[in-house]
Formats: sequence, structure tokens, C-alpha cells
Amino acid sequence: MNFKQTMEMKIGQIESCIRQYLPEECGEQSRLIEAMNYSILAGGKRLRPLLMSEAYRLFGGCGKEIEPFMAAMEMIHTYSLVHDDLPAMDNDEFRRGRKTTHIVFGEAMGILAGDGLLNLAVETAMCAFDMTQFPDRTANALRTLMHKSGLYGMIGGQSVDVLAEGQSDVTIETLDFIYALKTGALIEASMMIGAILAGASKPEVREIELAAGEIGRAFQIQDDILDVVSTTQQLGKPAHSDEKNGKTTYVTLLGVEEAKRRVRTLSERAAARLDTFSGDAAFLKQLFYSLIKREA
Ligand code: IPE
Ligand code: IPE
Ligand code: MG
Ligand code: MG
Ligand code: MG
Repeated sequence: MNFKQTMEMKIGQIESCIRQYLPEECGEQSRLIEAMNYSILAGGKRLRPLLMSEAYRLFGGCGKEIEPFMAAMEMIHTYSLVHDDLPAMDNDEFRRGRKTTHIVFGEAMGILAGDGLLNLAVETAMCAFDMTQFPDRTANALRTLMHKSGLYGMIGGQSVDVLAEGQSDVTIETLDFIYALKTGALIEASMMIGAILAGASKPEVREIELAAGEIGRAFQIQDDILDVVSTTQQLGKPAHSDEKNGKTTYVTLLGVEEAKRRVRTLSERAAARLDTFSGDAAFLKQLFYSLIKREA
């Protein structure tokens, strides 16, 4: 199997894993559940669960307890997108090739669907306790998930991102802080959780965190580039959203070419870190490199 076929197979497995943990659309709150499922079933690259399962494998993990964490991560990531698109934030009307959740279900339901996905994520991740002989690893993974998605991670980054909107004095240092948190943190958590559940040592988890942090920053810089050079159709979300919102990005500060160079340098650095582990990191490395050229 070539890289593309392997990717398709792995993403297919992730899709069925996620579906297993989604709620049934019934009961008095069925409209809320529809809104939650609408956004998560709209697709997406499923990069974070993929990175999680690959990090798990890299350290020899072979159990089932990774699966609820993979689903939980995608729930948190999806909720972050549902809220990111709200009128009070980026005010975008397309996501994953569809109308955004708040456009279809209304703003209140958009807020509640995001909240619902976050709670469901924690409940889902906790299923792992019944699937493992290592409850201490599961607790550590859960702590990492919550820490990296909260005020010291994704939410914290989003808050600084929103406050920087329309400001003329945003520096590269501030952008690095924003990117490390709003995007880097969930990617770090994904890979760290894989490593933790597989029983990696503290220094190994730290090295994985650094590699994932570099990939996370590269991923967000590439997202900035695509916002400028791509189309709404190709992205499945509005192009030029950053310009509309008066965002300072790597592209506005450094230009497309320098931004591309940074994506490459960060990705190469992250890939080099994988060489320090004894496990087979061939696929993971290919995945890192494929992100440099991603078009959506
Ligand atoms: C979008 O993430 C938000 C960013 C951090 C740039 P993805 O590009 O992973 O979105 P999906 O999951 O594929 O829709
Ligand atoms: C948001 O960054 C990252 C999140 C934590 C949701 P963007 O606002 O650039 O993400 P997109 O471009 O809307 O996916
Ligand atoms: Mg945003
Ligand atoms: Mg946005
Ligand atoms: Mg963007």
C-alpha cells in the first residue's frame, strides 16, 4: 500500500471509531444532538486522532483504550471549530464543506452544541478506564487532554487571538504564543496522549510534545497561507477569513514565501525528533512531510 492508500485505510478506521461514541438523535434534546453530530460528521481531516494513534503505535501501544481518547479529541477539536465560526468570533458561514452549525441550527444551538461536545468528550475519554490495566496512564492522559484544551492551551490561545484582532502592533512573538496554544496545544495533547497510554517515559513524552508543538505551529502557518492562496471550494471553509477579520498572521508579517519556508523548517525539525525513538516512525514522518504540501 502506498502512503495515500494507507492514509485512506487509517482515516476509515478513525471514522468508525468516532461514530461509535456519538449520541443517538432521540429524546427531548434531539435537536441539540443533531447539531452536535452535524458538525462532527461533516468530515474533516481527522489529523489529531491519527497523530494520537500513530504516537501510540510508535511506543508499542496495542490496546483499545486509545479509541475513546481519539474520539474525545475529535469532539474537542470540532467544538473549537463550531465556536471559532460563531458571529462573535470569526463569523464564518462554511466549515468542512457545509454551512456552519450556527447557520443551520441558530446561534444558541451552535453554542450549546460546542458545550455538549466538550462534555461528551470527557465522558467518552473516561470510558478508557474500563479498557485498561493502567488506570494511572489513563488519568495522566485525561489530565493532559483537559490541560491542553483549556486556558493554558486551545482556549487560552483563542482568547489572545481574538484580542489581537484589528491591532496593528502584533509581533511574531505574540503570534508564536497564539499558534502554540490555539492550534499547537491540541496537536501536542494528541501525540502526548498516544505516548502516555503506550507507557512512554517522561523524557519521551516531552520529546513528543516538542515535535508535536513544531508540527502544530507549522500547521497553523500553513492554514494562514491557505487562507490567502486557496479557494473556499478547495478549503471547505471561507478563504480570506483572516483578512475579513483584520487578523495579523505569518503571511501578513512575513509574506507567503517566508511563511512557506517556516512551515518546512518546523516540519523538518519535528521529523528529526522522531529519529530519536527506537520504534518505527516511517509513516509518522511521511505524514509530517505531507502536511507541508497540504492544500486543504
Ligand atoms: C482547523 O483545523 C483549525 C486549525 C487549527 C487551523 P483542521 O484543518 O484540522 O480542520 P479539519 O478538522 O480538517 O476540519
Ligand atoms: C482557529 O484558527 C484554531 C482553533 C482553535 C479553532 P483559525 O480561526 O485560523 O481556524 P480556521 O481557519 O477557522 O479553521
Ligand atoms: Mg479563529
Ligand atoms: Mg476561524
Ligand atoms: Mg484559519
